[in-house]
Amino acid sequence: MDKIKAIEEYNSKIKRVLISEEEIKAAIKEAGKKISDSYNGEPILLVSILNGAFVFMADLCREITVPCEIAFMCAKSYYNGTNSSGIVNITMDLEQDISGYHVIIVEDIVDTGRTLNDVVKLLKARNPLSLRVVTLLDKPSRRIVDFDPDMSLFVIEDLFVIGYGLDCGEYYRNLPYIAEYNQ
Ligand code: IMP
Repeated sequence: MDKIKAIEEYNSKIKRVLISEEEIKAAIKEAGKKISDSYNGEPILLVSILNGAFVFMADLCREITVPCEIAFMCAKSYYNGTNSSGIVNITMDLEQDISGYHVIIVEDIVDTGRTLNDVVKLLKARNPLSLRVVTLLDKPSRRIVDFDPDMSLFVIEDLFVIGYGLDCGEYYRNLPYIAEYNQ
C-alpha cells in the first residue's frame, strides 16, 4: 500500500468524536478536586495501568492539589482484533511497598472487568491503607466479572473506542479525544 493510501485508511477508522478534549478536561478537573478533597493530606499513591492509562494519569495527577506519588504497572489484556481474549498478564510490577499508602488505581477503561479484578486482588494482598479505582471510561454492558470502579468519569455504550491513550493495534493513542473506531 502506498503512503497516502495507508494514511487514508488510518484516518477512515476514526468514525466520530465521542468525547471531546474539552469534555475530558472538565471531567478530569472535577475528579482531581474530588480526590484532593477526600484524603485529608494523607499519603496518596496513584498507580497507572500501562499502556492505555498514561495520558489520563498525566492529566489527572496535575489536577490533584495534595501531595501524591505516582507509579506505573503494566497489565496486558490480549486482544483478537477488538475482542478481549480473557488472558491478563502483569508484565511490569510496582517497585515500592504499598502498605503505607492510600492507593488509587488509574485506569483508561473498564470493559469485561477482568484486568482490574486481577490487579485489585493483587494489590489488596499487599495491604495498602486503602484502595480505590478511578477509570476514565466504563462500559458496564460488557462486564463478565462482577467489578465496579469507585469513580468513572464517562459511562459509554458497547463501542470500541480509541484515542486519549486507548489504542487499536497500538495506533491512535495520541488522538487528543475519544473516538469511536470504525470496525
Ligand atoms: P477488561 O479487562 O476487559 O476490562 O479490559 C481492560 C483493557 O482492555 C483496557 O485497559 C484497555 O486496554 C482494553 N480495552 C477495553 N475496551 C477497549 C476499547 O474500547 N478500546 C481500546 N481498548 C480497550
